[in-house]
Amino acid sequence: MPKNKGKLVCMVVVFVLALTLSVGCFTRSNAEADDQPAPPPGMPSLKEIYKDYFEIGAAVNLSTINTHRSLIDLHFSSLTAENEMKPEGLQRTEGRFSFQIADRIVNLAVDQGLKMRGHTLVWHAQTPGWFFQDKNGNRIDQKAVITEEDRQLVRERLESHIENVMQYYAGKVYAWDVVNEAISDDGRYILRQDSPWFRILGEEFLEIAFRKAHEVDPDAKLFYNDYNIERPYKLNRTIQMLQSLLDKGVPIHGVGIQGHWSVGDSLAEVEQAIKKYAELGLEIHITELDIGTRDISAQGLARQAEYYRQAFALFKKYSDVITSVTLWGISDAATWRPNDNPLLFDKNREPKPAFWAIVDTDKSWEENKAYYLGE
Ligand code: XIL
Repeated sequence: MPKNKGKLVCMVVVFVLALTLSVGCFTRSNAEADDQPAPPPGMPSLKEIYKDYFEIGAAVNLSTINTHRSLIDLHFSSLTAENEMKPEGLQRTEGRFSFQIADRIVNLAVDQGLKMRGHTLVWHAQTPGWFFQDKNGNRIDQKAVITEEDRQLVRERLESHIENVMQYYAGKVYAWDVVNEAISDDGRYILRQDSPWFRILGEEFLEIAFRKAHEVDPDAKLFYNDYNIERPYKLNRTIQMLQSLLDKGVPIHGVGIQGHWSVGDSLAEVEQAIKKYAELGLEIHITELDIGTRDISAQGLARQAEYYRQAFALFKKYSDVITSVTLWGISDAATWRPNDNPLLFDKNREPKPAFWAIVDTDKSWEENKAYYLGE
């Protein structure tokens, strides 16, 4: 190639490069000047959004830790085992503890740096019958006369269950629902009369459980957990029960409001209850939130979204006392209320209006969706 031609090629290349760069700069500064909207930020993360307010949790099971894994990773900072840590899950046969299944969930939480709530140690349901049988296999809670020996036996089983389970999970489970659903639905009584724990040990079973739990793992946060305790028919009796435990110096740190609600249920009642429980000096966890609607038309889902928006706005308002909000499942494909479509993701695991509604409770779900997806 002649010398001059080489020079020319070189100059042309430099010129084209310079032109490209200057055009690049020009378009960039022009875009800034035009104040173009930023490109869509993509899927928001609930745990990121709520990190300054409270933990955002989900109940999971052996199947959903696989089928819903990417949603778990993106959105949740806390897990609860839906069934696997209940007495029938951990000690189906007396003295034979089986932690392998629950461990699959607990290990996921530990590996991913998520909080783990323990659910639940003492409950009238999902608890094997042997807990309440005497040496001859007779149900103690159905006897006309319950002897001191019977009581002692059941008390030992209660304490042994708590000791083995809490010791095993110490350092991994930070909060326990020590007692679940002890308050009666019948306004004449404080405590549920059909609970074998109550029938055998009397009201003392609560005190025994919480004291033992605290002794075994002094670092664990101990919760009393129940449904409808935010409703007027149960609120005052629950307060009474908690107050009397606190007066006796029983170590109880928080109250779990389950939150199995339906669209339209009063949120004013929920607010009153939050104030009352906070006055007791207790921390509050919303432990099992799901908000049902049978109407899955566009309008029905929008109503559910609006209700979820108001609920989370309320939780944020009280985030000094509400330290965790757990949904009882992730998508409507895997919920214990399959006809109620109560969760944030639909049967295809796609975000519902309710999901978009809680992404920013100061805006409508449509605005949030449009902002994040750029639609
Ligand atoms: C439910 C589970 O979601 C179901 O899979 C199971 O069949 C029954 O229990 N209150 C509680 C939870 O404290 O343990 C319950 O979980 C729902 C009501």
